[in-house]
Amino acid sequence: MQEIKFFSGENIPLELHKVRVVQKLNLVPIERRLEALKEGGFNTFGLQTTDIFLDMITDSGTNAMSDNQLAAMMRADDAYAGSQSFVRMQKAVEDVLGKKYLLPAHQGRAAENIISCAYIKKGNLVPMNYHFTTTLAHITQYGGRIVELLYDEAYKTTSSHPFKGNMNLEKLEEVIKMEGASNIPFIRMEASTNLIGGQPFSIQNLREVRAIADKHGICLVLDASLLGENAYLVKQREAEFANTSMAEIIHTMTSLCDLVYFSARKLSSSRGGGICTNDEKIYKELAPLIPLFEGFLTYGGMSVREIEAIAVGLYETWDDSMICQSPRFIEYLVNSAVEKGVPMVTPPGVLGAHVNTRKICKHIPRTQYIAGSFAAAFYLISGVRGMERGSLSNQRDEYGNETYADMELLRLAVPRRVFTLSQIKYVVDRLDWLTRNAKLVGGLKFVYEPPVLRFFMGRLEPIGDWTEKLIAKFKEDFGDSL
Ligand code: F0G
Repeated sequence: MQEIKFFSGENIPLELHKVRVVQKLNLVPIERRLEALKEGGFNTFGLQTTDIFLDMITDSGTNAMSDNQLAAMMRADDAYAGSQSFVRMQKAVEDVLGKKYLLPAHQGRAAENIISCAYIKKGNLVPMNYHFTTTLAHITQYGGRIVELLYDEAYKTTSSHPFKGNMNLEKLEEVIKMEGASNIPFIRMEASTNLIGGQPFSIQNLREVRAIADKHGICLVLDASLLGENAYLVKQREAEFANTSMAEIIHTMTSLCDLVYFSARKLSSSRGGGICTNDEKIYKELAPLIPLFEGFLTYGGMSVREIEAIAVGLYETWDDSMICQSPRFIEYLVNSAVEKGVPMVTPPGVLGAHVNTRKICKHIPRTQYIAGSFAAAFYLISGVRGMERGSLSNQRDEYGNETYADMELLRLAVPRRVFTLSQIKYVVDRLDWLTRNAKLVGGLKFVYEPPVLRFFMGRLEPIGDWTEKLIAKFKEDFGDSL
């Protein structure tokens, strides 16, 4: 993809698409936003979209689809078994991900359930670069444990390291030696490591992980949900691949792994998921579980219309003018916020911009969910819905104790081709204001805490009357502006 330079010298991420269908947004008054927070248990997952201005909770299932994806959905082949829509998805998986066997699953976590059910035995250990919430939940559900093996640099929120998602190779060797290869069903690499700020790994690192896996005869699993973005950043940051096509980079990454699974809600701007491999043995081990948990082998819980959209969306990952849109908007958001003094995770990653709330809200104890409190406060003063990615998203240990997250982040997702640059500027403006007034933000406590994945359905309430104080300051500074 060729750079488009501005005569002014400004570095602006120019959109290479046009908008043909729009959805009207509402920005409701701050008083209504407080009511909405109360109704939703001060958890941004509890909000209704009618109360949300910019929905930055996730890019999962919310990326804008292309005209070609929508067109393909019209020709879907409705059939319980033998649907030609599935044949088209299989062909796309083979062409793009280079794997001939495909097992459909209704979304990424369903693929994780199938893989964990087949391979996790009680006491097993899964080394990974970093966990994702649903991955951890499924592995522990089947009695397994995980160990995260990143380099120290990855835990630094401010950094210029291009590949914070790299697996720590020395630690991986150590863990295999201590645990024994027979207790390790697979090693998992997550493309664009989500929970540390959407940070990629390099192909060189993946090659080295592959070599270690081979040495010990361990299966290598790739979570490819954010593969397109990881591939884009490899092209940008790994010199060896600067002139390599996206198709080839993606293929190089998947060919290093035995089993690849994905959330199509992210990878292909649609809704669904899948597991693919070239190993017939793996295919045969997993296949019987698909009709049990998901649906017949040619739809796996997905609508055939979405299957068509996935097939087209997979090919679109080859187009870096499409894949670059979200990372470049994120880069713009992060750099603009940093210029204003807002502590952000750097270098800018993918999926979203990540605010380092621990640095902003030093006065909130970690027992009161720093990032969760900041996420609620940010919605209150902006109508923008982000997602807490900190201790609230962690699960308690086996004794019921809190486990505190390495980072307390507010994630502001930037789904592909959904927002305009002026909306991103609004986000930066309100982030700037809240950072300056962060002393007014207080903590939260649970009033209902679900036992599993508590961040989805948990209900909380503010400790003290900080929401009223924040509203008063907002009114003082913004008058009758929304
Ligand atoms: N793996 C990764 C790396 C993910 O980011 C996600 C989902 C999943 C697996 C699970 O896929 O949602 O289709 O079941 N991430 C979403 C997010 C939920 O908002 O980051 P799923």
